[in-house]
Amino acid sequence: MSQDAYRLKSPSGKETELPVLSGTAGPDVLDISKLYAQQGVFTYDPGFAATGSCSSNITFIDGEEGLLMYRGYPVEQLAKSSSFLEVSYLLLHGELPTVDELADFESTIRRHTMLNEGMLSFFKGFRYDAHPMAMLSAVVGSMSAYYHDKLDASNPQHRDIFAHRILAKLPTIAAAAYKLNCGQPFIYPRNDLNYCENLLQMFFAVPAEPYEIDQVAAEAIDLLFILHADHEQNCSTSTVRMAGSSGANPYSAVAAGISALWGPAHGGANEAVLAMLEEIGDVSQIGKYVDKAKDKNDPFRLMGFGHRVYKNFDPRATIIRKMAHKILGRLGRVDTPLYDLALALEEVALKDEYFIEKRLYPNVDFYSGIIYRALGIPTSMFTVMFAIGRSVGWTAHWREMIGDSETRISRPRQLYTGPAKRDYVPIDKR
Ligand code: CMC
Repeated sequence: MSQDAYRLKSPSGKETELPVLSGTAGPDVLDISKLYAQQGVFTYDPGFAATGSCSSNITFIDGEEGLLMYRGYPVEQLAKSSSFLEVSYLLLHGELPTVDELADFESTIRRHTMLNEGMLSFFKGFRYDAHPMAMLSAVVGSMSAYYHDKLDASNPQHRDIFAHRILAKLPTIAAAAYKLNCGQPFIYPRNDLNYCENLLQMFFAVPAEPYEIDQVAAEAIDLLFILHADHEQNCSTSTVRMAGSSGANPYSAVAAGISALWGPAHGGANEAVLAMLEEIGDVSQIGKYVDKAKDKNDPFRLMGFGHRVYKNFDPRATIIRKMAHKILGRLGRVDTPLYDLALALEEVALKDEYFIEKRLYPNVDFYSGIIYRALGIPTSMFTVMFAIGRSVGWTAHWREMIGDSETRISRPRQLYTGPAKRDYVPIDKR
């Protein structure tokens, strides 16, 4: 990987060579791992804006071009022609499956959809109005207590079983959390249904009457899950890798990732976008809210806008924007006022000098909530839906990290700015 080197000269004249590593795409990186040993200095990069934390062959983003690829395949092609489980296989195994491999994979995921019955009793302990992300994180963490039988991280078969369990059981856990919020009985998974049909019936069926699955809804969710499936070293995935790097139980590492995803700067933005659109309420108020977003003294931000990596359209947002119109039309809900409001807000922001200059474009979360809302999924479940889609990315990265001979415990350093050494003062002398 390494061809050239940068030469770094300290003020005292000591020279260090920083090897340059080239990947298959994207900027070269400087290998600074020997920098501290040779120069006695650390690098400083809060928020890791210019730091590669690992090498990875799973997902690539070109933020300037607005390009997202899973294992080399552009997300637009996968969104058009693939399914979420096929994409999951691709992310986990590196190649698209054959017909038989996909059939096997789908059947394996179906066979893992049930929860250990004891886990259901956890839900009795939560308040009826607990946020489903809090329940998801807690219950996925508890999988480390229920499914520790096949968990030797050095065993590739055990790593597979872990990935299958996460992918298969997350919709079941999400549905149980939703049913608790609704005060309705838990609905068991049905393995004759496909992944998203099963999710819908667990969410919306009730024992009192038959439930008819809406194929438009199932297809829409499948597409959204493809778009959410992975996004290289984002905050939640880096959290999973970091927690996992200590050798922690991988279910606990995924629970940590779920907690990281919940924040409004990350996956929680889809919920925040809907709250923002409802607060704006009407096209006549857009100017006022755009002004608030630009005001340095106002903490308000336009939710669903901006991205650390994309300085162009987020390709996922482009796909979702197109699909929103189509899906709302097919569902007979094309006159959704929130969708019109979102379009109007996007138009104003994209013409505004502040957003142009800072290269702030709509991101994946700007339109996803509008679709989820149209499908009848409550706002509090939006980030849970994101988590189900992203769960395969988390497990793919955990597997890659565990199998990488360069993996060491993640342990960043710091620029200390606290008091210099001083002596303890007894309490009666202070
Ligand atoms: N509204 C108004 N101003 C913004 C926004 C926004 N949504 N996003 C960034 N800015 C401004 C920010 O104030 C800063 O201005 P200045 O340079 O004058 O200080 C500049 O743009 C750069 O922002 P930053 O916060 O330094 O950028 P970041 O890379 O650290 O943060 C972000 C990226 C996504 C957290 C941020 O754009 C944001 O808070 N957006 C709203 C929340 C959101 O939609 N999050 C979902 C991200 S996509 C889903 C996912 O992958 O997680």
